[in-house]
Amino acid sequence: MHARYGGVVPELASRQHVEAMIPVLDEALKRAACTLRDIDAVAVTTGPGLAGALLVGANAAKAIAYARGIPLVAVNHLEGHIYAAWLEDAPEPRFPTLCLIVSGGHTDLVLMTDHGRYRRLGETADDAAGEAFDKVARLMELGFPGGPEIERLAGGIAPALRLPRAKLSRPYDFSFSGLKTKVLRLVRGQEGPVPALPELAAAFQDAVVDALVTKTLAAARDHAAAEVILVGGVAANSALRQTLTKRSPLPVRIPRPALCTDNGAMIAACGWWCLQAGQAAPLDADVQPGLRIG
Ligand code: KG4
Ligand code: ZN
Repeated sequence: MHARYGGVVPELASRQHVEAMIPVLDEALKRAACTLRDIDAVAVTTGPGLAGALLVGANAAKAIAYARGIPLVAVNHLEGHIYAAWLEDAPEPRFPTLCLIVSGGHTDLVLMTDHGRYRRLGETADDAAGEAFDKVARLMELGFPGGPEIERLAGGIAPALRLPRAKLSRPYDFSFSGLKTKVLRLVRGQEGPVPALPELAAAFQDAVVDALVTKTLAAARDHAAAEVILVGGVAANSALRQTLTKRSPLPVRIPRPALCTDNGAMIAACGWWCLQAGQAAPLDADVQPGLRIG
């Protein structure tokens, strides 16, 4: 629905949430072979995100919690991404854990010292990594979302072209806007002959992956992390997954791709831990579009 606009249109997203809410709920219950009577608690994302979409989800969750008399749990979307790492394999987390959260809206390096305890070490100074993939895909006239399109076009080639890596004063921060401008100039032929698009896609992907992996591993080493986890939509990227796994001296945990991009299972997983810690939310809990982590 959003592809023809090259990005998410907030009003369309809210309206789509209203239309999809009941059918998605019905489908999920059907596939899990249960009914609302089997549910013990409802976890819902209350932020960060687009206010309209968050409100639709929060109101549906509150309605279920109220009608069934079960607890409501308010989940931070970014914390939800992290909990995807413990959904399927090796359920015991090892702290401190260095988490790289790379999504369409965020690029955060977070040190997790215990359940629910986070310290943000770094973030992006401009575009999020996923946003950079989406914008570069758009200027190369590829589809939306751009991450999978660029990965497909790059096709696993090792690029000869080396694009610049940003230098920042804060050691764990990221910047991708200079890289995006460089790609724009190359595509427009402002720096000589236009490179072949697969080569350019691979060079762009390589530069993003290199920055993410280098800073993540430096932060993990400097903070004596026990393990590294990679989550968020961009964590579905195979070059990023492979490079981090290859270069890391520490154990690396990455959810399978379907649990990296936005999904309800990760919110349920985080909600379960919150509930163990006694963190049920009141029914008048508000949405927090600008919520952060750490
Ligand atoms: O976490 P997510 O599903 O939604 C947000 O919370 O933002 O992340 C979406 C982002 C998009 O920018 C998309 O282009 C990117 O994740 N993405 C990828 C890949 N799959 C999704 N980026 C690079 N390579 C991929 N394979
Ligand atoms: Zn997300």
